[in-house]
Amino acid sequence: MSKAKKSTNYDIKNIRLASQGKKKIDWAEKQMDVLRLIKSRFEKEKPLEGIRISACLHVTTETANLMNTLKSGGADVVLCASNPLSTQDDTAASIVKNFGIPTYSICGEDRKVYYQHLKAALDHKPHITMDDGADLVSELLSKRKKQTKEILGSSEETTTGVIRLRSMEKKKVLRFPVIAVNDAKTKHLFDNYYGTGQSTLDGILRATNILYAGKTVVIAGYGSCGRGLAIRAKGMGAHVIVTEVDPLCALKAQMDGNQVMPMSHACRLGDVFITVTGNTSVIRKEHFVNMKDGAIVSNSGHFDVELDVEQLNKMSKEISEPRDFVQAFMLKSGKVINILAEGRLVNLAAAEGHPASVMDMSFANQALAAEYITKNHESLENKVYAVPEDIDAEIAALKLKSMGINIDQLTPKQKKYLASWTIGT
Ligand code: ADE
Repeated sequence: MSKAKKSTNYDIKNIRLASQGKKKIDWAEKQMDVLRLIKSRFEKEKPLEGIRISACLHVTTETANLMNTLKSGGADVVLCASNPLSTQDDTAASIVKNFGIPTYSICGEDRKVYYQHLKAALDHKPHITMDDGADLVSELLSKRKKQTKEILGSSEETTTGVIRLRSMEKKKVLRFPVIAVNDAKTKHLFDNYYGTGQSTLDGILRATNILYAGKTVVIAGYGSCGRGLAIRAKGMGAHVIVTEVDPLCALKAQMDGNQVMPMSHACRLGDVFITVTGNTSVIRKEHFVNMKDGAIVSNSGHFDVELDVEQLNKMSKEISEPRDFVQAFMLKSGKVINILAEGRLVNLAAAEGHPASVMDMSFANQALAAEYITKNHESLENKVYAVPEDIDAEIAALKLKSMGINIDQLTPKQKKYLASWTIGT
């Protein structure tokens, strides 16, 4: 393996923000019980000794704690942002100053700087990459093929990334194994279902200060994220409409008590719109023109492609910014459509993303996935793998323990019953 350039470098907004960032990181750590347990084991066992890790994740207080855990396990870590708007600049400063981890991320960075930061992370010559959206893997496979020989494996945090990676596997271009952390049961339940619901409504609230009660909230996409969002919006008194392209998901939405209809109809009824589909151009010209005056439109899907903001721009005669994270587009008719956070992930841009106790599960999976890749890479193929079930179960058990919850154990008779096929009616 070739030697890595020593990365003493970083590119952040302001190192003087570090002490403010550290306080928030410490606050988050207190709610990350499972990750803390993993960190103390890593400190003793050093399972990642000699391993270089490049992570491309949202630079938040929770990510800071993951980075520190990996470093405690012996890894040589660098971090860059997985989204130009989600970086907490004070957190980035603290990761550099207090943990000594090279970090490349500035909130509001443009596309060019975003890719420069990815490049800096890959110049670290990682053995393991950690992605939230598959951008590092995509860079490696498209521009740095030689470097892929040194990659033992990668892990992926989010649904959109896993979809991209599965497509790479199918097209046989994937050159190393990937662990789909997103698909772990413990990650999916906490992050996609509980986390996205709460943090998205939080982002919209912080940006707009609206009252949800009595509003019609239109949710595009009824996967785990859409489902979690719908139940929480309803809990706050909103009337929920769901739009879908998948018949099963649509059926689930209807049976869960939502109203289901196409966006062409929903666009006329909604006060607040939230896309969580993972697809492009979900809300577009023909929808914007039919919306109510003052409609609030946001996205919580990974990429900023779900709202056709470019079209809206062309349709508008005036754009103003009535509040932080709100752009008011005045159409030629005089009607105003409000876009939040430029159509980027509203939960991370206008709020702080998922709470620490949610990211505890996601990042426990990430830390254990890095350990798993280090130990098992020789027996893995160039495929997308699920997190092994025993790791998932261990994380669930640790979380329950941290919450002080005990559960029943199977009796020998019950074990025998479950294992047999001869006992019938
Ligand atoms: N994705 C969603 N919320 C997050 C958070 N708080 N930190 C890192 N990644 C996230």
